[in-house]
Amino acid sequence: MTDSWQECMNHCVEVTKQAGKIVREALEKDIAVMEKSSPTDLVTETDQRVEKLIISAIREKYPTHCFIGEESVAAGAPSVLSDAPTWIIDPIDGTTNFVHRFPFVSVSIGFTVNKEVEFGIVYSCMEDKMYTARRGKGAFCNGLPIKVSGQEDITKSLVLTEMGLKKDPEHFKTVMDNIQKILNVPVHGVRCPGSAAVNMCLVACGAADAYYHQGIYCWDMAGGAALVTEAGGVIMDITGGPFDLMSRRLIVASSPRVAQRIAQELTVFPCGRDDAP
Ligand code: IPD
Repeated sequence: MTDSWQECMNHCVEVTKQAGKIVREALEKDIAVMEKSSPTDLVTETDQRVEKLIISAIREKYPTHCFIGEESVAAGAPSVLSDAPTWIIDPIDGTTNFVHRFPFVSVSIGFTVNKEVEFGIVYSCMEDKMYTARRGKGAFCNGLPIKVSGQEDITKSLVLTEMGLKKDPEHFKTVMDNIQKILNVPVHGVRCPGSAAVNMCLVACGAADAYYHQGIYCWDMAGGAALVTEAGGVIMDITGGPFDLMSRRLIVASSPRVAQRIAQELTVFPCGRDDAP
């Protein structure tokens, strides 16, 4: 039987290559920066252009499919996940990195059916790394299989997170306190690379042992989620419960033990949902 989602994935890889080429070319030119919700929430003409290109190239082939894209949602489109085949798109994950040419900038696309991620593609543009994962078929970087470190000991782990939600002082304090708690476990170190999708790929290929975050969006998580699970890692809610793609929070790790240990340390704060009315 033909695997129609595999056909979608093959198309997605080609579209992501085109998108990545545009991002790489844009890095060679002047970058005009605009602000979205705050002076630290940035967008560029390239984010918008790349999202339009991705959606039109996919819609042309799959006109009945649904889309959730970061810039479309910023422009007022709904962000609701249904059972229908849905493409969840971040045209540039790591826009601040893009603006500064800090080398972790990615195009991230996750594809869901019945709210389950069927495949994920993350292209790390400056590193020229194409990460791909299809449910049940493994995870790859530039065609070569990748796997998580398998680390079970939190005290030997390198942990990734990000320092978002700077607007709300109470949340920001909790973010900082959480970083301190993780450092005090102790762990080998904490890093903030600046692209959620790349963070998940770093865990998927064993360069880091865990990543946690409260306050991101489904388009930051969908592509990378497939990479981590197909590379043998775990993905869960920040509380240690089941992962929910629309919950704006997650822990991914090389092993359930490391993930649960991180969950045990973290203070949870309300960060809303992607699908909140
Ligand atoms: C951002 C990145 C960053 C994370 C932010 C995200 P964007 O995505 O993933 O690592 O800290 O919360 O919004 O806005 O550059 O697509």
